[in-house]
Parts: sequence; C-alpha cells; structure tokens
Amino acid sequence: MSDQSTDKAADSNADAPVAAPAPNLSELPTGGVPLFAMPPVRAPEGFPPGFEYLASEIHTGPGPALRLMPQGYAFPASAIHPFDPVVLANRAYLTRGYFDEHIVQGFIDRVYGHTLVTYDGLAELSNQVRFCEMEGIEGDYVELGAYKGGCIGIMAMSNLHYGKKPRMIHAFDSFEGLPQPVAQDIDANFNAMFKLTDEQKQGKLETINAVAAGEQYLLELMRKIEYPADKLRIHKGWFQDTVPVAAQEIEKIAVLRLDGDLYESYVVPLAHLYDKVVPGGFIIIDDWIFKGCRDAVTEFFAQRGGMPYLHRVDITVRVIRKPF
Ligand SMILES: C[S@@+](CC[C@H](N)C(=O)[O-])C[C@H]1O[C@@H](n2cnc3c(N)ncnc32)[C@H](O)[C@@H]1O
Repeated sequence: MSDQSTDKAADSNADAPVAAPAPNLSELPTGGVPLFAMPPVRAPEGFPPGFEYLASEIHTGPGPALRLMPQGYAFPASAIHPFDPVVLANRAYLTRGYFDEHIVQGFIDRVYGHTLVTYDGLAELSNQVRFCEMEGIEGDYVELGAYKGGCIGIMAMSNLHYGKKPRMIHAFDSFEGLPQPVAQDIDANFNAMFKLTDEQKQGKLETINAVAAGEQYLLELMRKIEYPADKLRIHKGWFQDTVPVAAQEIEKIAVLRLDGDLYESYVVPLAHLYDKVVPGGFIIIDDWIFKGCRDAVTEFFAQRGGMPYLHRVDITVRVIRKPF
C-alpha cells in the first residue's frame, strides 16, 4: 500500500519535496522505548498540491504500531485518523500519552463512522470536557458543524463519565452540507479540494453538497450513548440564521468547538458565542488548514487586541484557552 501510494503521489505531484530516507530503527537510542521520527512525506493520492505533510512528531510507544505505519503513508503519520485501516489494525499499540487514554479510546471506538476528526482531535476534546468536569469549569458544550455527531458524542460520553450530571449540549448544523464559500475562502488548496464552479462561489446560503449528513446520524449516536434527550439541543439551519437566535438562550459555554470549514462559518459563531465562553473554557478551531478559517480567526482577535496562544493539536486543530 505504501509503495503504491507513494509512487502514485510522485507521479501526480512531481514538484513535491523528496522524502528523506527512513531512519534505521535499530540504530536509534531507545532506552527501552523506541523512538521513531517520521521523515517529511508526500501527500497521498487525491490530495491537492501543497498538502505535503511534515510528519514532524516524534512518536514514543511500544514500537510495533509505529513501525508498521508504512513509510510514505502520509496522512495517518502526521494526523492519525482513528479509523484509518492501518491505525485500526495497530490500535492496541497506539498510545499518545493522554490522561486515561484507554478510556478515551473506548469513547473513540463508539463514534466510529460518525466523525472526520483525528485521533488527537478527539482525544483532546475528551480531555477538555474531562478537565471542565473535574475542575468545575461551568457552561454548556457547543459544536458548530456537528455533521454525523462524532464530536458531540465524545463530549457526551466524557461528560457522563467524568461529570456528576449531564450538561446541555448544543449541536449546530445545516444537516445538508456546507454553504457556498466567500472570496476569503478561496485559494489553490480550496479550489483543488472542492472543485466548485464560479456560480457556486458566490457566498449564497445554498448547499454545495460537500460534507453533508442528515441529523439522523447524530440522533442515533446519542441514543446509543443514552444521553438524556432533553440535554441535547439541535440547532438545524445555517449558522447565519440559527446562531444569533441561540445566542440569546445560551448563557455560558465551557467548550466551544468550531468546525464549519468556511470563513463565514467562523465569523458568525465567534461574533455571537466567543463572549459566552467562561474564563478557563476552551475554544477549539478545527480548520486551521483552510484560509477562510485562518482569516476569520485572525481578524476576530486583531479586533480584540491580539491573537492568543494557539495550542496545536494536529495538522489542522488548534485550541485556545480563554484567559481568566
Ligand atoms: C467538516 S464538517 C464537521 C465535522 C464534524 N465536526 C465531525 O466530527 O466530523 C463541517 C460541517 O459544518 C456544517 N456547516 C458549515 N458551515 C455551515 C453553516 N454556515 N451553517 C450550517 N452548517 C454549516 C456542514 O453542514 C458540515 O456538516
């Protein structure tokens, strides 16, 4: 698989940097724990130019899982997707140093098929909720861009496991996919990824039929998790319509998870919900790989006196802890 995908990527992406030779594992100092530094690798086939991932993380662990990660298999090496077949096959060896990681892995297993978010993105989210529960950081759990409900499910399970009582969870989505992008969203990566016509790039609140899923997936997952129905609030529709209304009803937010991909899908919730996040709460930005997201977040904080520290979770997820 690795050789094939590397060759195909090389054909379609001739200008990409050449991967450095793999380190000789037997020569690496282990001290009982093998260390494995992945070299820079090319994007897998199907990813647009510019998506070369620098798999810069130094993985520590029992070894076999990471040694079995085929070289050139770029995506799981730099952004470990929990449902990638290679990661799944080696799941028993996957340890990334999270608090209660075996419990977190149980949560992640239960959202199989319901999320696009990486292992680190989901594990961090679980830990942020755990932290809020254990440290008494009050407020609701909120996601903008709930899609099939995987992150909502992680919040729910972590809340039930670590908390004394279920909190209010808010899931926002059109449940019919992304709306049209605006000019700020458009760059070469965006064009290569979404392949839209000019007609579809007018910023209209009409679906472009990308990342679309009905709310039944979310509802089914939350039923399986047995989260109380009266503690889940689904805000169905375009954020531009639903968020200003919901902002009047939501008082405090402990975790605000932004995953709407597009410029306006960040501008709107930041304007209406950022001030609801309590000091010590978390703001998760899922789409740092997208220009529209970076522009919206940067502009928002420029108006607020400067960019806070962005904690990197994976290739695209960033987290801000609201200052006290
Ligand atoms: C990448 S998906 C979210 C992935 C999800 N958080 C997960 O766990 O996999 C982006 C979602 O945001 C929604 N979305 C983006 N912009 C929106 C908007 N302006 N209004 C409503 N929904 C929006 C899309 O419908 C889509 O379901």
